Order: sequence, then C-alpha cells, then structure tokens
Amino acid sequence: MAVTGLILIAFLLFHMYGNLKVFIGEEAFNHYAEWLKTDMLYPIFPKGGFIWCFRLVMLAALVLHMWSAITLWLRAKKANPDSYAVKKRLERTYSSSMMRWGGIILAGFLVFHLYQFTIAPRDPASPYNSVVTDFSQWYFVLFYALWLIAVCMHVRHGFWSAFATLGANTSEESHMVLNALAWIVALLIYIGFILPPVCILFGLIGA
Ligand code: HEM
Repeated sequence: MAVTGLILIAFLLFHMYGNLKVFIGEEAFNHYAEWLKTDMLYPIFPKGGFIWCFRLVMLAALVLHMWSAITLWLRAKKANPDSYAVKKRLERTYSSSMMRWGGIILAGFLVFHLYQFTIAPRDPASPYNSVVTDFSQWYFVLFYALWLIAVCMHVRHGFWSAFATLGANTSEESHMVLNALAWIVALLIYIGFILPPVCILFGLIGA
C-alpha cells in the first residue's frame, strides 16, 4: 500500500509539473504531449513504446494499491467486527474511512478524466485546445476544484502514513516533519493542478 501509493504520488507530481507547460503556450504544451506519447526514452525504447510501459506500471500500481486497500479493509473488519464498541479506535477508524471513501471518489472520477482528455479529447490534434476549450466552462473548473480536494486529502494522509509504514515515524520530531511534508506535497499538488484551469477560466491562458 505504501510503496504503490508513493509511486502514484510521484506520478501526480510529474503530471502536475507537465500541465504547467500550458502557461508557455500551445506549441510547447502540444510538443510536450507529443514527446510523452512518442519520444519519451526513444531510442532506448521504440517510438511510442515507453508510454505503454509507463501506463502498465501505473495501472499495476493502481490495481495493487486498491487490492491492498480491500485486503486491509476486510482484515480490519474481521479483527474488529464491532468497532463502535471500542472508543479509542474511533479516530483511526475516521481517517481510514475517509481514505476508503476518498479513494473511491478519486478513482471514480479518474475514469471520467481519462475519458475527457485521453480517450475522447475535444480536439485530438491539439491537447492544448482540448484543455483550453473545456476549462473555459466554469462547471468543469468547479468539478476539478472539488475532485482535487478529494485527491489532495487522500495524498496528505497517504503520504504521511506511507512514510510511517516504511519506518520513518520514529520520534516526535520526525512526526512533525512528516506531517509538514505531507501538507506541503498536498498543497503543491492542489495549487499546481488548479492553477491552469483557473487561469484559463479567467482568460489569462488561451485568450
Ligand atoms: C486540473 C487538473 C488536471 C488536468 C488539467 C489534467 C490534464 C490531463 C490531460 C490534458 C491529459 C491527456 C494527456 C494526453 O493524452 O495528451 C491527462 C491524462 C491523464 N491524467 Fe490528468 N489532469 C489533471 C489532473 C489529474 C489527476 C488529479 C490525476 C490522478 C488522480 C490525473 C491522472 C491522469 C492520467 C492517469 C492520465 C492518462 C495518462 C496517459 O494517457 O497515459 N490527472 N490529464
């Protein structure tokens, strides 16, 4: 759960950074999207080959992450069938159910996101145009702003607990450092992702 979660957070940071190329302009953004799909790690991999390896690794990480979540959920249920009877566990139960439901929301809307920009983009010839056209609509910006809250809440708790699982939460001081880092990463992801849609909506990009 911890390792696959950190792989997915690394993907988010990479994706967020790439999206910021929209600020440079249409040519730079489309060139970047084209490079991802055809030239990434060429000629070590054949043209267009690496993106499929990348997608397979991401899919494997996602499937293993969800499988671990379900396995742990079932194990916790079996070990503690009447969790309400144990008051001390309430806080942990609260954050675990936030993670469960947050994860379900996150993954559910990811299907929509993939449909919108990868499977059926508005302008298949220009990812820039697809992004600018869609985020000129306020309801898409609102939808992403809300979805990203679920993503970032999941990342904040996930980042913290992944490092705790891996043994980094050894003292009061490391607890504080991990907590601060988790907030920084979550806020960075939120701001970095929402900035392009908001700037598009207000005509600062693509006007
Ligand atoms: C406002 C925020 C976001 C924007 C503007 C955005 C934009 C895009 C665009 C334009 C593509 C298509 C790239 C292409 O095919 O040329 C894409 C693909 C993708 N996005 Fe996002 N994205 C955002 C947030 C997210 C988040 C939060 C996640 C994960 C939880 C995510 C996961 C993905 C994945 C998995 C792909 C498919 C990559 C592939 O084709 O291999 N995106 N996104």
